[in-house]
Amino acid sequence: MAAASEKMFLALLFIFFMARGIIIVDANFGKSMYLTWGTQHASIQGEDLQLVLDQTSGSAAQTKIPFLFGSIESKIKLVPNNSAGTVTAYYLSSTGSQHDEIDFEFLGNISGQPYIVHTNIYTQGNGSKEQQFYLWFDPTADFHNYTIHWNPTQVVWYIDSIPIRVFMNNEEEGIAYPNKQGMKVYTSLWNADDWATRGGLVKTNWTNAPFIARLNRFRARACKWNGPISINNCASNVPSNWWTSPIYKQLSYAQMGQLNWVRNNYMIYDYCKDTKRFNGQVPPECFKTQF
Ligand SMILES: *[C@@H]1O[C@H](CO)[C@@H](O)[C@H](O)[C@H]1NC(C)=O
Repeated sequence: MAAASEKMFLALLFIFFMARGIIIVDANFGKSMYLTWGTQHASIQGEDLQLVLDQTSGSAAQTKIPFLFGSIESKIKLVPNNSAGTVTAYYLSSTGSQHDEIDFEFLGNISGQPYIVHTNIYTQGNGSKEQQFYLWFDPTADFHNYTIHWNPTQVVWYIDSIPIRVFMNNEEEGIAYPNKQGMKVYTSLWNADDWATRGGLVKTNWTNAPFIARLNRFRARACKWNGPISINNCASNVPSNWWTSPIYKQLSYAQMGQLNWVRNNYMIYDYCKDTKRFNGQVPPECFKTQF
């Protein structure tokens, strides 16, 4: 009897979440992603995704479903040795002309020289919000965790639980924020030697091919996008929408300390400081505290 009512309770709970459109997807690569490019040499197997680039093609994968808010995380071990000219991308994106996008891109380098972590965010079709960083470790030696946390008040980029960047919701000041459309998760490895390494000066050395980036333990603890109804459902302040909890509304003091440590020691480009590029008029969010 007890077991039966427990089952009943779980079934009701499941129906409740289904009805609200809230599905916490906690699945591995094999269950939630599929290859879209370079299928002849890339591979997905359970928790592992291997992206391959050679002179015939790069490779790419994407999730089957889009999300709105939550945490998207994966462990990544980047292309080792001479990876100059290659770019490994790991990002969220919606489709259409007014698209939203939240990016991590890893720009390769010759052996022993540092990768650049390139971040950007597009809101309603508008990008041009790049920040770039060096890393405090060798990203090719081991797997490290790269997470995009995205909720109604902020987007936070984390590397091994250290926040490296925050983009706050300043919609009240007329600054667009990605909260009205679902985004799928994409990852890819391709040749970008026209710009990636030292601005395009260093070309891909194909004698080092194939280039391989490994991803592992993909997790989307996120709200499934079910169309416009999700705009409210995924943002509503209910316990199952764990990303709306007050602790995710802003960084803790300890996290602000970490963010400042990264900015002070590893940041190499900030669009907010690039006044020349914007003719002296940096975008409005640059005048708001970003954390
Ligand atoms: C590659 O190494 C050079 C020299 O250290 C550095 O200037 C550059 O920022 C590094 N990263 C990329 C992606 O170009």
